Amino acid sequence: MSDSANPIELSFELAASRCADLTPSVYQRLFSMHPEAQAMFRSQGSGLVQGSMLALTVEAILDFAGPRSGHFRLIACEVASHEAYGTPRELFIAFFMVIRDTLRDLLGDEWSPDIARAWDTLLAEIDAFAVAPT
Ligand code: HEM
Repeated sequence: MSDSANPIELSFELAASRCADLTPSVYQRLFSMHPEAQAMFRSQGSGLVQGSMLALTVEAILDFAGPRSGHFRLIACEVASHEAYGTPRELFIAFFMVIRDTLRDLLGDEWSPDIARAWDTLLAEIDAFAVAPT
């Protein structure tokens, strides 16, 4: 594991050393907090869609919190396309909180004040960005 200066990146690295695949924990949490989200996914093949949606979201988060090379723009594009899937904006944004909470539970004692602060800031920035992309 590298020493990451970026607390968001670090939180994903620490989680990866504890859990090979975040997908089941993230979607279990999402569906228990927001049961209506489950029905938005297709009944067949939704596992692949969910895995790929999470992977792309994590890529977008790391880019948003880091180099801003382009992947972060997915966030603004997907707000619009998710309206077609019946996903309201508030629920769309809630997915980022679900990811944060999943990491926090996995990290336990290693969820530092630095990491917590970085996630608070990131969630507020993503919320603003999803309304008015810059
Ligand atoms: C709780 C919030 C969300 C719900 C309920 C949701 C729901 C969905 C659904 C139903 C689909 C699949 C449509 C299909 O069957 O083809 C989908 C696909 C996708 N979602 Fe989400 N979404 C959420 C949040 C997000 C967020 C925050 C992002 C990224 C910023 C995102 C990115 C994507 C992408 C990239 C796909 C296409 C995946 C692929 O087929 O490769 N979603 N989402």
